[in-house]
Amino acid sequence: MRTLLLSASAPDSVHKASEIIRAGGLLAIPTETVYGLGANGMDGAAVRRIFEAKGRPQDNPLILHVAGPEQIWDLCSTVPAAAERLMEQFWPGPLTLILPVRDSVPKAVTAGLSTVGVRCPDCDITREVIRLAGVPIAAPSANRSGKPSPTTAAHVLHDMEGRIDAILDDGPCRVGVESTIVDLTGDRPRLLRPGGIGPERLREVLGDLIVDEAVTGILPADAVVRAPGMKYTHYSPQGTVIIVTGSGAAAARYILPRLGPRDRVLCFAEELALYPAEAASAYGAESEPETLARNLFAALRELDREDVETIYARCPEATGVGMAVANRLQKAAGFQIVKGEDAP
Ligand code: TXA
Ligand code: MG
Repeated sequence: MRTLLLSASAPDSVHKASEIIRAGGLLAIPTETVYGLGANGMDGAAVRRIFEAKGRPQDNPLILHVAGPEQIWDLCSTVPAAAERLMEQFWPGPLTLILPVRDSVPKAVTAGLSTVGVRCPDCDITREVIRLAGVPIAAPSANRSGKPSPTTAAHVLHDMEGRIDAILDDGPCRVGVESTIVDLTGDRPRLLRPGGIGPERLREVLGDLIVDEAVTGILPADAVVRAPGMKYTHYSPQGTVIIVTGSGAAAARYILPRLGPRDRVLCFAEELALYPAEAASAYGAESEPETLARNLFAALRELDREDVETIYARCPEATGVGMAVANRLQKAAGFQIVKGEDAP
């Protein structure tokens, strides 16, 4: 299969893209968070092709992308008041809601669960494609399983060339980390995955929010997981990632004596001068979590090489979108975290 590149600015791209979806094909879609690997969300056979192209375990459900809140009534059997408030406040935007699913949604989407994730992306062209196709688009992130999510069309092409029909290229993603996932099917709203919208802003609307244990640590192998994706090691480069906490100077005191020729440092912009130029790369200033989020996955991809052994990473404070950055880095590190201050 030849993978077609469709530029979002080309006049017929929306039409061509929606035709691919209607025909049961695979289309990588831009969103404000990361690129998705989309198919007709009401067509079980098309959805199963997503799993093949990604190499994704079948028991990991997909998010349905809609053009607007009005579309979720066909997909979800109950829509609680809390969901309506969140949609009003944050849609279109980087927030996925877990709600009870209707029977009309194919089992391939939900992996047989009684719930479904729905989200309305803040990307005009993708909402136009969904509208024109007339169906929700089921889409996980468009990376090969185990790789960081793609934030540019080039990342998607690298992972998926020859495996999907087309990529709709709308430039680099603005947010850079995946959507926040909130489960509204339990007694209390539950944060399953931190993302583009920080927990503080959700609490303002919901008044209440519990953070799932999967967000903050590794689950035991036999644990009951609410977000099935949480049990797989995601975002993991070939080298070992170690997070080093503490001040910039304390972290450098820990890292520098250990830094071998095949090791790298992923640090804040203001810390670059502390390390040999060839060993370090920065992904933004510590005080700008939005920038860190936007650059994180591209930086991890850059460092995902056979010849890189250890990646020492600096991680921002876990507030706002910084919580998502910290979460993705912690997962890449398998929650291996050392304190910079402990260095001799
Ligand atoms: O920003 C995003 O959410 C991107 C863009 C493409 O929209 N999508 C994305 O999809 O990150 P994916 O499949 O890579 O991650 C979705 C996560 C998975 O961990 C999956 O297990 C979880 O959402 N999920 C999906 N449906 C669920 C459900 N019904 N209950 C609990 N978790 C669910
Ligand atoms: Mg993913």
